[in-house]
Order: sequence, then C-alpha cells, then structure tokens
Amino acid sequence: MHGLEGRLVVITGASRGIGAATAVAVAARGGDVVLLARGRESLDAVAARVRERGVRAWVIPVDLRVDVDAKAAAEAVLQIGVPDVVVANAGHSIARGVLECVERPDSYTRSMGVNFLGTVAFCGPLLAAMVHRNSGHLIGVTTATARIPLPGWGPYVASKAAFDAWLRAAGPELAASGIHVTISRPALVDTGMVVRRRERSRRGVAPERIADQLVGAMLRPRPEISPWWVRPADVASAAAPHTVARLVWAVTRRRAP
Ligand SMILES: NC(=O)c1ccc[n+]([C@@H]2O[C@H](COP(=O)([O-])OP(=O)(O)OC[C@H]3O[C@@H](n4cnc5c(N)ncnc54)[C@H](OP(=O)(O)O)[C@@H]3O)[C@@H](O)[C@H]2O)c1
Repeated sequence: MHGLEGRLVVITGASRGIGAATAVAVAARGGDVVLLARGRESLDAVAARVRERGVRAWVIPVDLRVDVDAKAAAEAVLQIGVPDVVVANAGHSIARGVLECVERPDSYTRSMGVNFLGTVAFCGPLLAAMVHRNSGHLIGVTTATARIPLPGWGPYVASKAAFDAWLRAAGPELAASGIHVTISRPALVDTGMVVRRRERSRRGVAPERIADQLVGAMLRPRPEISPWWVRPADVASAAAPHTVARLVWAVTRRRAP
C-alpha cells in the first residue's frame, strides 16, 4: 500500500484522534510526516509509530492559539522542507450555550484561537511557499455542523464556520497557483473530543475511517469530503433557516449543555 513516497505531509492536531490516525495512515503509504500539537510526549509517541513504518517524522510542539508561535511553527516546518500536503486538523470543541458564555467569554477567544485564527496564521507561510513552488494541497478539517445551526455549541460552530468559509474562499484563489484545497467535514468521530462527552454522545465513526478519507483525498484531490446528509441539510437550512434551527434544537437539546 503506497502512493505517498517522498511526499512531506504536515499534520496539526497530530498528538491523538484524527490527526494521529492520519499520521499513521500517511506513513503506511510511504509519506514523511511533520506532527504538530501542544503535547510533546504524545507527539513523540505518534512519531515513534510513524517511524516504525520506515518513514521520517518530525515533531514540532506548538500552541496554535498564540499567533506568533503559530507563525514560528510554520517557519520551523519550512526548515524541514516545503510541504506537499498540509492537514489543518487541530481543533478544540467547547459545548457552551450563549448564556454560559456570558461568564466565560474566553470560550470564544479559545475556540477562535485554535479553530480559526492560529490555524490560518500557521497555514499562511506554508501556502506562500507552496504557491512559490506552484504545487501543494491544503486539507482543512471543519465539521459537518459548520454550515448547520447547532444550538448549545456557539463558540465551536462559529469558529469552525469561519474556517470553513475561509477554505471555500481560498480554494478558487489558490487553484490558479496549483494548490488544491479540500474541506473535510466529519460528523461524529470516536475520539477524545467526544469521549469526554460520552454520556450525551451517540456512537461515531472510528478516527481511522476519517484518516483513510484524508489519505484518499491526498492521492486524488477533491474539494470536499462530507457525510451524504450535509448537502441536503445545508440546502434546507438556507431555504428555511428558522425551521431548521428549531428542529435541530428540538433533536439535540437533550444532549446540549
Ligand atoms: N471528534 C468529532 O466528532 C469531530 C467531528 C467533526 C470535526 N472534528 C474535528 O476534527 C479535528 C480533530 O479532532 P479529534 O476528534 O481528533 O479531537 P482530539 O482527539 O481532541 O484531537 C484534537 C487535536 O488538536 C490538538 N489541539 C487542541 N488544541 C490545540 C492548540 N491550542 N494548539 C495546537 N494543537 C491543539 C490536540 O493536541 P494537544 O491537546 O496536544 O494540543 C489534538 O492533537 C478537530 O478540528 C475537530 O474539530 C471532530
């Protein structure tokens, strides 16, 4: 099983969950991997699993909420090489309703920091280098709920919607420079992100399944990877936003905070 030999794949949020599974899947296809997240020990453990597959792995610890650190991490990546693929996967979900955020306004700054602002600050220098080379691929992981109202999750869906919109704007802009942009919008995935809320979660798919989708997109770039129901839900939401919002609230309120 090969296809990514000699390719340099940069993955944020690679210390666990979807990012770690993607790193191992890329290694199984022969790709070299740069792993980023905050947790150095977890990154080292994933790097060891990657190297077992006979490829190279580098670890760059970074807190993407800190703008200057995000940019410095991108420069550190470029010291290794110009990436062939950047998987902007790091994310943090805060399930907090509007009124709870009154006392916790940091819910918004923390969510925007990692899910949007720090991520695009990190991607910027890498995209510039890929544009200069005239080839590359950016894969952004948003969420199936980036375009559908999800009451009780304002900070998360707002920050993911910002990243999703940015990716949609970036796609055509960068295509002229030989850069592919793919948006991955997973629904529920069984990672630490949802296990922390296990009591109100349904069963999701395995992170390895999303990793396989991301590797599939690396081998054959496509504009988006979404569950089948995202597009009809998006159309319904555009046609009848208040009805859809009320319906989603009625269905999810038992699980909402
Ligand atoms: N799980 C789901 O149901 C689901 C559904 C839709 C979309 N997604 C998206 O999929 C992506 C991966 O999520 P996951 O499910 O694999 O969750 P996860 O297991 O919690 O992994 C999140 C990753 O992001 C990193 N991260 C968090 N905050 C960071 C920060 N400030 N700076 C740098 N890295 C940071 C974490 O590492 P450290 O803590 O070590 O920094 C970790 O590697 C996220 O963008 C998430 O929003 C997940």
